[in-house]
Amino acid sequence: MSLCTVSFKARRGRTLSAGLIAGCLLGPLAAAAAPPEIPRGQHGEATAEYQLEELQKLMPQVDLAESPAGFDPVVWAAFIPEDNPLTPERVELGRKLFFDARLSDDGSVSCATCHDATRGFTDQIPVSEGIGGQFGKRNAPTVLNTALLQTLFWDGRSPTLDHQARLPILNPIEMGMPNEEAAIKAIRGIPEYEEGFKKAFGREMNYEDLGKAIGAFERTLVFVDSPFRRFLGGDPGAISPEAQAGWELFNGKARCMTCHPMNPSNPLGTDNRFHNVGVSARHQDFEGLAQQALKAIQEDASEQKLDELAIGTDMSELGRFMVTGNRADIGSFRTPLILNIGITGPYMHDGSLATLWDVIDHYNKGGEDNPFLDGGIEPLALSEEEIDQLVAFLFTLTDVRFADQNQRLFEAQRAAANEQRLFRDDAAAQRRTLPFEQRVMGAQGKPE
Ligand code: HEC
Ligand code: HEC
Repeated sequence: MSLCTVSFKARRGRTLSAGLIAGCLLGPLAAAAAPPEIPRGQHGEATAEYQLEELQKLMPQVDLAESPAGFDPVVWAAFIPEDNPLTPERVELGRKLFFDARLSDDGSVSCATCHDATRGFTDQIPVSEGIGGQFGKRNAPTVLNTALLQTLFWDGRSPTLDHQARLPILNPIEMGMPNEEAAIKAIRGIPEYEEGFKKAFGREMNYEDLGKAIGAFERTLVFVDSPFRRFLGGDPGAISPEAQAGWELFNGKARCMTCHPMNPSNPLGTDNRFHNVGVSARHQDFEGLAQQALKAIQEDASEQKLDELAIGTDMSELGRFMVTGNRADIGSFRTPLILNIGITGPYMHDGSLATLWDVIDHYNKGGEDNPFLDGGIEPLALSEEEIDQLVAFLFTLTDVRFADQNQRLFEAQRAAANEQRLFRDDAAAQRRTLPFEQRVMGAQGKPE
């Protein structure tokens, strides 16, 4: 299937040009992310062997007794659950499981298929491909630094990494195992696992411990050492003057800081809260979907069902509403962490924005108008120069260990943005038309 032919049905019946949406830029952008000679698996990901070698280079040694660079030991300890201490045995077991496609129904998909170590622990495509070439409705976030998040998934429906890891294995379009038993059966009898579980947990292998082992491995993926962090730490030369101007805008005129707080004690750039920033409004009839969702949840309120609806159906667009049933949460998603953002595109819960220029264009015009839009989203009247400054700043948030890939993607995104800026709307951004007028006059009525 070609993602290029997808068209977004905007509210008021406008259809955004089907042309070059995120999926179509996928080729050049993903190709820029990594040299082409990488050996690849069936879904385009680097092979597990290759990823493990890369991981070894990224993290030659992990000293679990030490807190990660930049973290006070007491602060770090707060991120480790009491019932899952970070031991070498658990991390080692979790690493094996994370890269093992035997945990999927057709043996072709592992966690690392969609969270590829050579692609910023995401897949760098708009929405992810699971078993049988099925595509879900959501973009795969990176697993880097997820240890530091308060809730997981775009809608926050999972409380911990240990819990989260149990869901994709059973999701019918991701790894597709029919049930927990089948997943355990797939690895039972394999000596390294039989032994690994005993050493890590002191008992027979079981599904809950499998989640804990994967969670333990993911907690080692802390990558917060960015040029921006060095700048904040007192090195003024760590980022360019252009990026410094972007940082000013981030805190001031562009008002990003209200939802993406960034400071030494909160380096992630997320408030861990849920907002409708007008991305989902591009696609859907919220009211109809909400009714459908309430009915579906009434029939089956299990967390597995919720996972299926969120990832595999149009109800995905309801976001946090699926978890709370609260109208105010319609179309709202957790503010994503924006560390390493340069290498984790395309962007937003649906992967609809290919470049960070698209992201700023989206905010600049005040998002897509809808009844549930967050009050903090308004046209920003940013100039072209200011947009470039904000983008330059965002590219300084990538850990220095990914510097080469970050630079390659910066150049590829810039080239793509020079070609096409699909989400740019100067009239709205500069407040020459207001959403209200657009509603009344229709898209053609713009005084441009
Ligand atoms: C088929 C692709 C695919 C596979 C396989 C997959 N994931 Fe994901 N992952 C996603 C998508 C898409 C999301 C976002 C789903 C959502 O928010 O509803 C996600 C979300 C996550 C998150 C939450 C990140 C955040 O910022 O909230 C974590 C952690 C994660 N996955 C880890 C894993 C682990 C561990 C495995 C293996 C057990 C795995 N994933 C398998 C695609 C995949
Ligand atoms: C009202 C809160 C809010 C404000 C203000 C805000 N954001 Fe966001 N941001 C979010 C939410 C929520 C999402 C996810 C939305 C979605 O996927 O539907 C997001 C997504 C993003 C993403 C994509 C992340 C990813 O991994 O896909 C980037 C980059 C980003 N914001 C940067 C910015 C910048 C730069 C500004 C200022 C111009 C800004 N944000 C202002 C809440 C906000």
